[in-house]
Amino acid sequence: MLLKSQHSGAASRGTHLIRILMTILVTGGAGFIGANFVLDWLAASNEAVINLDKLTYAGNPETLASLQGDARHQLVQGDIGDAALVSRLLAEHQPRAVVNFAAESHVDRSIHGPGEFIETNIVGTFRLLESVRGYWSGLLDSDIREQGLAPTGVQAQAPTKGGFRFLHVSTDEVYGSLSQSDPAFAETNRYEPNSPYSASKAASDHLVRAWHHTYGLPVLTTNCSNNYGPYHFPEKLIPLMIVNALAGKPLPVYGDGMQIRDWLYVKDHCSAIRRVLEAGRLGETYNVGGWNEKPNIEIVHTVCKLLDELRPKADGTSYATQITYVTDRPGHDRRYAIDARKLEAELGWKPAETFETGIRKTVAWYLANPEWVQHVQSGAYRDWVSKNYAGRQA
Ligand SMILES: NC(=O)c1ccc[n+]([C@@H]2O[C@H](COP(=O)([O-])OP(=O)(O)OC[C@H]3O[C@@H](n4cnc5c(N)ncnc54)[C@H](O)[C@@H]3O)[C@@H](O)[C@H]2O)c1
Repeated sequence: MLLKSQHSGAASRGTHLIRILMTILVTGGAGFIGANFVLDWLAASNEAVINLDKLTYAGNPETLASLQGDARHQLVQGDIGDAALVSRLLAEHQPRAVVNFAAESHVDRSIHGPGEFIETNIVGTFRLLESVRGYWSGLLDSDIREQGLAPTGVQAQAPTKGGFRFLHVSTDEVYGSLSQSDPAFAETNRYEPNSPYSASKAASDHLVRAWHHTYGLPVLTTNCSNNYGPYHFPEKLIPLMIVNALAGKPLPVYGDGMQIRDWLYVKDHCSAIRRVLEAGRLGETYNVGGWNEKPNIEIVHTVCKLLDELRPKADGTSYATQITYVTDRPGHDRRYAIDARKLEAELGWKPAETFETGIRKTVAWYLANPEWVQHVQSGAYRDWVSKNYAGRQA
């Protein structure tokens, strides 16, 4: 049974009712990785999630439709940079942790309009850190369970200052680009971001680090390689290829298609975040990756092959005939590769999927969920937002 807290901070005021289960605050939890994280979290635990998301074009609450009416999940539309809102949510829900996914995340968009990236990824993270610092400073040092205020028979818990954690989700793109012969990125690599997106994420990582060293805020940072999997917005490589292939459209490949990325199935990223949140050393950064370096063109061919097998074209030709090379993106990094040995050795994390199993699941998911794709493409998910969330926004 889920028992949600009614009175946050009640113990310190001597009231008899205190929170029953812990809560976490997730930001950007209606986006691709954040939504997968929330769904996986609530599939495995009864710990409530407050989900703060601005619902930009990338935020899609339809992804979270299965949680409608589930008291463990509350979606709040709002900005991480809105200090009044964030402080109110923290005070009201007393989370024991904050997991920060919220960001502008698409490199191409950052090239055409970097302003939003500076606003959310840098200024927004700064404001979020300040709100969290205010909340964390006010947490009790002792555990209120010891004060004997829990209703009989119920294991009551409350966040403590010592137990609180802020986990910042970041990317391998902050490390810049590798040549063919360079070793994979380790946590000790210097930051050399090349796009407005990666520069803004690098800046946010530095802020998180500084808030730990200067104010003692208990932070953790994860830097992950390219994710793929269900609920990925079809502007990114893998879903774009699947969706365009099925629609009989060209499959646009930048330059020579030999840009190498290191791919991780999204649910493996989520399990890594859960593990770091649980046992990571405060102030540390952990690289997350699946040892799956692949050139983009190979990814496109793999997707085509799977579609040829699972949804063959009526005329018998391969989807690969739709591949079209287009002018490369400016400043396109050639190679990313993640050395995830620290996370594996210290915290015993390992990905559950190989690239072959993960990509098969992903293609199968897109074939089984044409409605989700169609709503994203037509913008119908926006109507879904206004229908289902009207009046529920902060
Ligand atoms: N996608 C990847 O391959 C990848 C890899 C490594 C790290 N990351 C990082 O993981 C995080 C999530 O990535 P994603 O791919 O899910 O991104 P996404 O673009 O799919 O989702 C971002 C979410 O953040 C929300 N958001 C944007 N601005 C906000 C603001 N100011 N306040 C509150 N919410 C806001 C959006 O509405 C959206 O729901 C990002 O920080 C990204 O840098 C992504």
